[in-house]
Amino acid sequence: MNILGIDVGGSGIKGAPVDLELGDFAESRLRIPTPSKSSPKNVAAVVAEVIENFKDQVADGTRIGLTIPAPVVHGRVPFIANLHKSWAGLEASKFFEDHLGRPVTLVNDADAAGLAEVYHGAAKGNDGLVIMTTLGTGIGSAIIYRGVLVPNAELGHVELDGSDAETRAASSIKEKEKLSYKQWAVRLQRYYSHIEMLFSPDLFVVGGGVSKDSEKFLPLLDLHTPIVPAKLRNRAGIIGAALAAHDADEHPESR
Ligand code: BGC
Repeated sequence: MNILGIDVGGSGIKGAPVDLELGDFAESRLRIPTPSKSSPKNVAAVVAEVIENFKDQVADGTRIGLTIPAPVVHGRVPFIANLHKSWAGLEASKFFEDHLGRPVTLVNDADAAGLAEVYHGAAKGNDGLVIMTTLGTGIGSAIIYRGVLVPNAELGHVELDGSDAETRAASSIKEKEKLSYKQWAVRLQRYYSHIEMLFSPDLFVVGGGVSKDSEKFLPLLDLHTPIVPAKLRNRAGIIGAALAAHDADEHPESR
């Protein structure tokens, strides 16, 4: 069965029909840049464009999975770091369902990526405590214990040396400050050893676009916890969104 997954990020909005058995895209993905004014209305218009593009593969009225780079607490976005500030306080699930005229499962982007890595990727079969982090515009995080996701962990916003961690160690900061991998790894070391001290995880999984270059920075880190790149790379958000939508159809009580 195919379900459309759409991943809303700080720089791009990406979608693809996902083959859930395969745990991968059924068609190549479509990416549209995030509107420079990334308000809910402007983002919803792009999401509608992505849906329209795949209308032959995804039946009318079927549920889609959608991620956003913010916590989603019972459908509401309490705060937002990297999209237009007007998202804060929005009943976002209802907003998208009204705009798109179909059921929508809205989920935090890193939680979606974590789910996908548990079902089909680097965390598959791990029955301990896994912390997935995504390094991108911000730092996203997902905590998964024995295969069950603890939603809305915001470990990108822990305070490190007086700063919000993602403003020091996200990969967008590496770009912005033109840091070498070696320089960036010093910040990552500080970040991951702090998270390691707080949680004692069994495994770190590192996703986000930069995870394709993981051999340039993961070996520079010195941690007790094994740290591995995400297997699904930046496909994890879309695949996880589709998995979450499927789950919501199967277990309506959990919506
Ligand atoms: C947001 C998280 C999100 C992460 C990655 C952070 O700024 O607060 O909810 O998962 O960025 O997009």
